[in-house]
Amino acid sequence: MSAVRENGVIVAIDGPSGAGKSSLTKLLAQRLGYIHIDTGAMFRAVALMSKRAGIATDDDARLAELCRGLDVTFVRDGASCRVLANGEDVSTEIRTEEIGLLTSAISARKPVREALLTMQRAMGAKGGVILEGRDIGTVVFPDAEVKFFLSASAEERGRRRYLELAARGDSATLEETIAKVIQRDKQDEGREHAPLKQADDALPIDSTSLSIEEVLSVMENAVRERLAQGDKG
Ligand code: DC
Repeated sequence: MSAVRENGVIVAIDGPSGAGKSSLTKLLAQRLGYIHIDTGAMFRAVALMSKRAGIATDDDARLAELCRGLDVTFVRDGASCRVLANGEDVSTEIRTEEIGLLTSAISARKPVREALLTMQRAMGAKGGVILEGRDIGTVVFPDAEVKFFLSASAEERGRRRYLELAARGDSATLEETIAKVIQRDKQDEGREHAPLKQADDALPIDSTSLSIEEVLSVMENAVRERLAQGDKG
């Protein structure tokens, strides 16, 4: 493992959708005083902008051009974090089911991955960050000091998503929601470029029957242990 960086270590959290990455990353970042980078939100912003511009999901030339002109930033807003695309707050618009599925297709395209890879490496290089996504520990920062691979059964992830949607007044059924989770897993694991995959040196955590607090404490202990090793690690 590499030495601790200027602002602390890099923590990579990968796993399928609905495994609890976002909630856990947010809480872990608060406990450690680290910056939280939601790389899925970056892909979602690209998907939203491509939809608005009417770009086909396989039009790599136009997707590359779109990414060249796109600046995605995160701005803290109290306890939450807003996502800005070229200065516009797109935090709510990128969270629909439609954009989720479109993102899964757009994020498989090579020019999109290349553009965001450069942005993500620049954002995380100094450490003191937690990046959550699908390929952080394998592709973006294979030398991250701490890596987790967070999973849960498709049924449990579908159930969590269903409760979230129901709270928002969405009428999707539990069965439909589980089917979409499985569809997304297939797309994310089966793609050619940077597929969802556990890094060999990642700590696997199955959250199916664990509480957020239980998972959080496993993660926090692992990071603090690594920090205590300092540059000797
Ligand atoms: O984490 P999320 O559900 O917001 O991610 C949305 C989509 O983006 C998901 O289908 C996978 C993709 N993604 C990716 O390919 N690589 C990442 N590092 C993060 C997300």
